[in-house]
Amino acid sequence: MKTVLGLESSCDETAAAIVTDGRVILAQRIASQDEAHRPFGGVVPEIAARAHAERLAPLVEAVLADAGMTLDEVDAIAATAGPGLIGGVMVGLVTGKALAMASGKPLIAINHLEGHALSPRLADETLAYPYLLLLVSGGHCQILLVEGVGKFRRLATTIDDALGEAFDKSAKVLGLGYPGGPALERLAAEGDPKAVPLPRPLYGSSEPHFSFAGLKSAVLRARQSGEHADADIAAAFQKAAIDCLIDRTRRALDSVLAEGIALNGLVVAGGVAANKSVRGALEALAASRDLAFVAPPLSLCTDNAAMIAWAGVERLALGQSDPLDVAARPRWPLDPDAAPVRGAGVKA
Ligand code: KG4
Ligand code: ZN
Repeated sequence: MKTVLGLESSCDETAAAIVTDGRVILAQRIASQDEAHRPFGGVVPEIAARAHAERLAPLVEAVLADAGMTLDEVDAIAATAGPGLIGGVMVGLVTGKALAMASGKPLIAINHLEGHALSPRLADETLAYPYLLLLVSGGHCQILLVEGVGKFRRLATTIDDALGEAFDKSAKVLGLGYPGGPALERLAAEGDPKAVPLPRPLYGSSEPHFSFAGLKSAVLRARQSGEHADADIAAAFQKAAIDCLIDRTRRALDSVLAEGIALNGLVVAGGVAANKSVRGALEALAASRDLAFVAPPLSLCTDNAAMIAWAGVERLALGQSDPLDVAARPRWPLDPDAAPVRGAGVKA
């Protein structure tokens, strides 16, 4: 049996976990920074980096104690090396390097997005490559064909906001605080989605990508008009966002199936996968194409270290590790060959 210690610090969760190649999470701990960032309505990079630096080492000690292990008993250290807020990424990666050096164990530098992308395989041992992955979080909104460890084809991305970002910004407009996705979902349950007409950007478009900025602006105008109940705006936003999500995902799914690729499932990961209406709509889409629908448990959908440890397990099994001078990367696309997106400026 192999065990990997995973570290995550790329955004506002500090996390450590120990995972075995038998898919057992021996221990995991997460320290959320929501309280620290709430007064600012979003993640403040400097505050995040400092909080990671204070919390990560005690978390590592705690998960080792939880698992009843010493550092010498783990087989490798996996740390998120990007993409993300660079201060936080550096704290996690430097901690991983120090632990690897002290223990003489290999260091595995993990792409945070690969952590999300492979996490469904930690939860479901029957999920084989290739599968179609919808990665929807506060910072990312992509459809990926996952063909293996390190083998991704990006089929779609957002030309402006990520879906979670659109939820958070709309929630802010509605005075719901930060992070707003879960609160917006609760409010939407009390509203009538048909009561407020909202746009569905790129719906039915022949281009593959997502766009949510226009929807978010329409939410602002609807709120400012004073003509609608907040719950109705929330419900209409959620419905419009999901309609767009399903339309874009259906397009990607059908293009892959038309290529004759034998998909093993439609998989959702990232924080927005916590949304029950999002899950329900994706499940129905998968069923309509006779595909298995896989959604990892919520604790694996939002940022966590078990997914980083698991990506480490998969890479370790392939004999992969990284030199101790491996660099932290603020940007790190999963598919470097993907064409740049219109409107994306200089961003990768
Ligand atoms: O993956 P994650 O924890 O962090 C990153 O952004 O990488 O995702 C957090 C995002 C936030 O935008 C949050 O509002 C959204 O996921 N989210 C939700 C729900 N729960 C979390 N959005 C809609 N409905 C939810 N229930
Ligand atoms: Zn994430």
